[in-house]
Amino acid sequence: MHIMVRNDRLRAALVLLICSVLAISGCSKKAAGSGADRTGGEVSSGAGSASGLAGGDGAEKNSIIVGFSQIGAESAWRTCHTESVIKAAQDAGIQLLYANAEQKQENQIKAIRSFIVYQVDVIVFVPIVSDGWDNVLKEAKEAGIPVIIVDRKIRTSDESLYAGFIGSDGYTEGCSAAKFLLRKYEDEIAAFRAGRLNRVLNILELRGTDGSSMTDDRWLGFRDVIKDYECFDIVYSETGDFLRSRGKEIAQKLMAESGGKLVVDGKPIDIIYSHNDPMTLGFIEVLRDYSFDPGKDVTIVSIDAEQEAIDLMKSGKINCVVECNPKFGPQVMELVQTLVSGGQIPRVTNTVEQVFNEFQNFGTIAPRGY
Ligand code: AHR
Repeated sequence: MHIMVRNDRLRAALVLLICSVLAISGCSKKAAGSGADRTGGEVSSGAGSASGLAGGDGAEKNSIIVGFSQIGAESAWRTCHTESVIKAAQDAGIQLLYANAEQKQENQIKAIRSFIVYQVDVIVFVPIVSDGWDNVLKEAKEAGIPVIIVDRKIRTSDESLYAGFIGSDGYTEGCSAAKFLLRKYEDEIAAFRAGRLNRVLNILELRGTDGSSMTDDRWLGFRDVIKDYECFDIVYSETGDFLRSRGKEIAQKLMAESGGKLVVDGKPIDIIYSHNDPMTLGFIEVLRDYSFDPGKDVTIVSIDAEQEAIDLMKSGKINCVVECNPKFGPQVMELVQTLVSGGQIPRVTNTVEQVFNEFQNFGTIAPRGY
């Protein structure tokens, strides 16, 4: 399909940007400036934030080109995920246009539009939030470019707008976090049911980015497991946006408000459930400043399994870490190749994950690499 270009200046700027990136990296280009009748696309505001192109040393002139829109670099998890996708593309001889959206959905939309103009073979993107993608995905569909959704899911009324999703099962991660508590508090649960314990266990939750599927799924999975256990009560929940700085800020605010006691609305916090390691680590920093003993004075359950969190678990400062696996770049590239060769990919591919906790033999935990 031929797409009309409304703004030649913008298109020229985009072509220039892409050409210069390609020239720097020594990779070939697909349509832009080649004279081939495969150009066009409407760019609403320049080239978005396309921030690099990675191709294998052996990338051939006509090799596959993938546009990859990543949300940013908010955590060690995210950086590892980006590296995994870039390396997998290099290993597979696939050229990758990489765009870092710096936590802004509008940047992702711009990047996707630039990929459409460039007529990449496949678009791969991590939706920072679930809603608001239909228009740009319709544009990709009209341009005949298949889309793979990665890591976080989207909400859409038209499932045909993307080929498939690959990433973690955030709902299961939330369930796993809660199941650890069932094990840890087995005696308290029994005592509560028998009327021998007359106080509930108060939970403080640090949510990830609101509006993201990962936050929604981790929120729901956790609640679905504890809802049948009256001895647990989520007394406080706040978004820390998956950021260490926000985890720290929330802890500072709560500790200051409660005179350094980690009490919310008169309720002493027994358990912290955090949707990712950076927020957990930021929170722990503050607890330590107040001479709290995390892992003992308060139980801590986190998600991601970054090395720093695993190390804190080994030293008794975190009680459980649910793995969220960022290293699935090779699987993404396999899906890309299937689509390019005309095949179909599964609607959902979930990565394999495990749970690390204080009850296990730490010697079996391999270095995490992030
Ligand atoms: O979407 C995955 C989450 O995003 C990871 O848990 C977190 O670290 C990242 O920011």
